[in-house]
Amino acid sequence: MPPTAKIVLEDVSFYYGQEPALQHVSLEIADKEILAIIGPGMSAKSTLLRILNRLSDLATEGRLEGRVLLDGKDIHDPDVSVTQLRTRVGVVFAVPVPLPLSIWDNVAYGPQLRRGVSKSELDSLVEKSLRAAAVWDEVEDRLHEPAMALSGGQQQRVCLARVLALEPEVILLDEPCSGLDPISTMKVEEALLTLKKDHCIVIVPHNVQQASRIGDRVAFLMGGELVEHGSAEQVFTKPRDSRTDDYITGRFG
Ligand SMILES: Nc1ncnc2c1ncn2[C@@H]1O[C@H](COP(=O)(O)OP(=O)(O)O)[C@@H](O)[C@H]1O
Ligand SMILES: [Mg+2]
Repeated sequence: MPPTAKIVLEDVSFYYGQEPALQHVSLEIADKEILAIIGPGMSAKSTLLRILNRLSDLATEGRLEGRVLLDGKDIHDPDVSVTQLRTRVGVVFAVPVPLPLSIWDNVAYGPQLRRGVSKSELDSLVEKSLRAAAVWDEVEDRLHEPAMALSGGQQQRVCLARVLALEPEVILLDEPCSGLDPISTMKVEEALLTLKKDHCIVIVPHNVQQASRIGDRVAFLMGGELVEHGSAEQVFTKPRDSRTDDYITGRFG
């Protein structure tokens, strides 16, 4: 039996002005799995990811058609708080952008805004988040030093920890390892494989190899169209569409 869907896209299209970027995408995204969205540049992978936490609202002249359901509830319903939605659906971008603060403050920043969180609760949340982001061992002795002083790979894992500190249900990652060294990339991948046990994860990997290493399911987008979607095994070994086959075997892209 297929796992229950955490997110459902019903015939979703997205326009920038008159230009359709994403066209008629229907997709179910399971909880406790990693969905990898692959495809050539300009296929609307980032657009699709941004729709899931309504960052797409910020596009000038952006327009969405169709419905996006999170736990069965339309995320565009008037009674949905965007702030609340973005807490439930966190995002990590390609370039790590730590706040110009200490490592500890970067991770505690979001939770600190909540009422009545004690310093000791914050300390344990910071540690738990940094551990889950596979960077604790490298920073535990320097929590009060600037996050900017870390390597790019460490900064990216601190940014992941910052998202985890908000205790999201869904984690979106847009090419999170594109600028990282192989060791940091491996640590991020290991962290995601552990996090999927209790999160829904949607990643735009930086290459097909990463999708095959960590994806449970794969969606192949081309020119804003969802060409194919299935288990990673099916998509990589028995793609149904010749365009998928051409892309994963490196004939274009
Ligand atoms: N903020 C924006 N304003 C206008 N057009 C955009 C914007 N973001 C993306 N696009 C356009 O939407 C299409 C898909 O882009 P994107 O989602 O970034 O694709 P991908 O992540 O697959 O490279 C491209 O044609 C791009 O130019
Ligand atoms: Mg992109």
